[in-house]
Amino acid sequence: MVYAAVLAGGSGLRMGGSLPKQFLEVAGKPIIIRSIQAFIESGSVDKIFVAVSADFYDYTSELIAKHLGDSSVTVVVGGKNRNETLLNVLHSIDDISDDDIILTHDAVRPFIDKRIIDENISAAREYGACNTVVPAVDTILRSSDGKFIESVPVRSEIFHAQTPQSFGVKKLLSLYENLSDDEMEIFTDSCSVFLAAGERVFLVTGDRNNIKLTYPEDMERAENIIRCKEAE
Ligand code: CTP
Repeated sequence: MVYAAVLAGGSGLRMGGSLPKQFLEVAGKPIIIRSIQAFIESGSVDKIFVAVSADFYDYTSELIAKHLGDSSVTVVVGGKNRNETLLNVLHSIDDISDDDIILTHDAVRPFIDKRIIDENISAAREYGACNTVVPAVDTILRSSDGKFIESVPVRSEIFHAQTPQSFGVKKLLSLYENLSDDEMEIFTDSCSVFLAAGERVFLVTGDRNNIKLTYPEDMERAENIIRCKEAE
């Protein structure tokens, strides 16, 4: 089975506003619905989980029914950090088989497409773990004190991480079940968990439009991306 976990349990403090950003509309449709729809329309995923905070469980179920009808999307209650949210999704999967894989995706990246989804599936099958990335455009500097540069990594070796991050479900679950509460908080994403365990993580080429909507100004960029896609 190929699963997708659309992670939408965050509060979107940097975006501000009265609703968490995943529920805001871009070009007349909620961001979370756009993200779910991308997985449905890819035709490549067998089952989709959407994880939201308990406060938004009913709201999300109603939103899905309104926009997607009786699509077989399963809504799950998220956790206090992204890792806990993902673990709740993993615990919602019945009968995990050796070859099951899961694509984990930020609900606030609505511009994922079929090419990225399919390449994640192939890479997760072949390598067990992969991360969607784009090459760094700017030179990235390292400074631990924020005052002086310590090093300048070679730009051609630097990438920006996007999502999906995709994994064999069994391995992902076993690594997550062995994390302490502190580690659940500290690891910013699942690829870091794999790396800490000495596992290899393959790079899948992402897309510069596969942005994470984080700040209010990103909403205008999102509207522009949709306008450009519609004009294509
Ligand atoms: N996420 C989640 N569960 C959490 C925290 C985050 O599922 N407890 C999800 C968010 O909903 C989002 C993705 O992880 O789709 C990336 O989160 P990010 O945008 O970095 O964090 P938010 O908490 O949503 O926003 P902010 O940091 O601005 O408060």
